[in-house]
Parts: sequence; structure tokens; C-alpha cells
Amino acid sequence: MPPVTRRVMIFRSLAGGVTALVTSAVAWARPAEATESDTDATTVLAKTKSIPVGGGKIIRGTWVVTQPTRGTFRAFSAKCTHQGCTVASVSGGTINCPCHGSRFRVSDGSVVRGPAARALPGQRIKVSKGVIRLA
Ligand code: FES
Repeated sequence: MPPVTRRVMIFRSLAGGVTALVTSAVAWARPAEATESDTDATTVLAKTKSIPVGGGKIIRGTWVVTQPTRGTFRAFSAKCTHQGCTVASVSGGTINCPCHGSRFRVSDGSVVRGPAARALPGQRIKVSKGVIRLA
């Protein structure tokens, strides 16, 4: 193996620095693109046509979007007000928690059956061009 000269050491050092600089520049440029799309992805809850009339859908385990009557949409937190489980289904006009059986109305999140004593907190939404977004 040939000896490493001072010139080779300097060259390797510079090459490593340039590589690190290019890598940093690329990494720095990417988050701006990702942030834009992530923001949009997190504010979009659902397409209106994906929410059944009289029912609803649990979105990303965080929100429940319902359509109590055709063209009327509501959104609530998916965190049960009893002990914090995530509600698991929407059926028969209620949003249902699997942990202890609480049920909440799809129209306003109010309690239909306990043990939960408080309604699911509502979430303001915007509906435009067939898309439901967080307001
Ligand atoms: S946590 Fe939902 S019913 Fe108990």
C-alpha cells in the first residue's frame, strides 16, 4: 500500500467537505417541499363522498367526520371523553367507543350512552369542492 502523502490527505479532506456540503444542501432543500405537502395532508380530513349519510368515518385515529343529513358535515375529536380511548366505529347513528361502550350522536357528539358524561369535543371544519378540511 503506497504511503499517504500530505497532498493526498488534503485532497481527501477537501473531497469529504464538499460531499458534506452537497448533502447538507440537498437535505436543507427537501424539508420545504415536504412541509408544504405535509401541511396540506394534515388539514385534509376526507372527501365528502367518502362519508356515509347518517354515519361517519374515523380519520387517522384522531378525528371523526360525520354526515348526519345529506350535505351536512360535522367533525369531532376521536378521543373518548370517558377515559381517553379512541372511538372505533360509527354505526346506527352513533360514534362508538370500544373500551366501556360509550356512544355519541353523529349529529352533535352528545352522549347517547355512558359511562362517558361529556360530549365529544367538536372541531371546526371547512367544506369546499368536495373536500373536508380542518378550519
Ligand atoms: S374510554 Fe370510552 S367508554 Fe371508557
